[in-house]
Amino acid sequence: MLRFPDGFLWGAATAAYQVEGATKADGRGESIWDVYSHIPGKIENGDTGDIACDHYNRMESDVDLMAELGLQGYRFSIGWTRIFPDGKGPVNPKGIGFYRRLVERLLARGITPAVTLNHWDLPATLSWTDRDTAYRFAEYAATMFDALPEVPLWITHNEPWCIAMLGYLRGVHAPGVKGDLASAVRVSHHLMLSHHLSMQAPHRGQLGITLSLSPTYPERPGDEAAARLSDGYTNRWFLEAVLNGRYPEDMVTHYQSLGADVTQWLRPGDLSGGKPDFLGVNYYHRRVIRSTPGSDLGWFVVDRSPGVPTTDFGWEIVPWGLTALLLRLKADYGDLPIYITENGAVFNDQISPDGQVHDPGRVAFLREHVKAAHKAIEGGANLKGYFMWSLMDNFEWAFGYSKRFGIVYVDYPTQRRIPKDSARFWQQVILRNGVE
Ligand code: FCB
Repeated sequence: MLRFPDGFLWGAATAAYQVEGATKADGRGESIWDVYSHIPGKIENGDTGDIACDHYNRMESDVDLMAELGLQGYRFSIGWTRIFPDGKGPVNPKGIGFYRRLVERLLARGITPAVTLNHWDLPATLSWTDRDTAYRFAEYAATMFDALPEVPLWITHNEPWCIAMLGYLRGVHAPGVKGDLASAVRVSHHLMLSHHLSMQAPHRGQLGITLSLSPTYPERPGDEAAARLSDGYTNRWFLEAVLNGRYPEDMVTHYQSLGADVTQWLRPGDLSGGKPDFLGVNYYHRRVIRSTPGSDLGWFVVDRSPGVPTTDFGWEIVPWGLTALLLRLKADYGDLPIYITENGAVFNDQISPDGQVHDPGRVAFLREHVKAAHKAIEGGANLKGYFMWSLMDNFEWAFGYSKRFGIVYVDYPTQRRIPKDSARFWQQVILRNGVE
């Protein structure tokens, strides 16, 4: 039996646009994901978040389900456009009301809320390419800190790398711009600026940010320099900006050589909000890098190495990568408290003839990653909690509803929730505060 430290927080995560639906209810404004998901051809099967898991209308019973599964923590995000329908004032009290009721119900069930402010659903009236958006975000953050004073864990942004690079360089996330590294870097800076501005807003509870981090390795001898740059691109750029208030020199230079000069947008004091109280880590897989001179960034990600198993997303299953990542964060950044804010797997789940959903792949995935997290704690990592992704199947961005990440199955036509075997497994992990 591998036991976790007393007080370790076990939970599950979701995000507003992925689960809430009710996109027109109670004065909610349009977000860039509403716009993007309605553009034909952008999302698999033409799916949108219009209905999603209908969580907005089923919040009460969903929280009851969380309590029944024994969750100690629930990470959710606030739909920015429920609060500021137009991106700027005035505040929509009905939007605040929904999240107040959610937080109150969670607390009444003994579940700790961990609240993300920006899980990608930027008001459609705003753009992260504008510096002013950072100030609008800080205003929104201050509004929520004030409206939900009993929330103990706050996360400013979810995965700024995805917002900037998938949204502006790869063009596979809203707003769907392709090949514009200069805008992507500019967006990344405005996200970092807005994080630092929010750090300075009066708040109770602990304040952090969630980064998508991937331990990065050269494929072969000779690929080390490319792997180092790729590590700068996904990991160090954001880690350094958040934890040390600067951008890494090698990346500033690399981006400049590709026509994206962050010093054009960086003003004195932009990154001076101080260190967060904790770091949220989303870990799904490692990255293996092959140097590729002439490609847009100078390298290529080898998606799959021979003999390594994958989830139904094609993502490699590499539990030891989580141990390596957490120990690297300790080595480079010290004892800052860390929460795993996402970790999980896609499998093509089906309802069995017995009416249950058996997902042995996800159970094994979670078990191995919990063991890997334990190993990191043994090695000295200051890991405080673990939110798996996701509480329930939901709108998986460009993949729509075709990819299921939940420990609870959602039968979309009826909106019936069916806890999968992995939900029972997670319940046992929580009960025992560890894993066999
Ligand atoms: C992360 C996102 C989350 C979910 C998982 C699978 O990048 O933060 O919303 O889509 O991937």
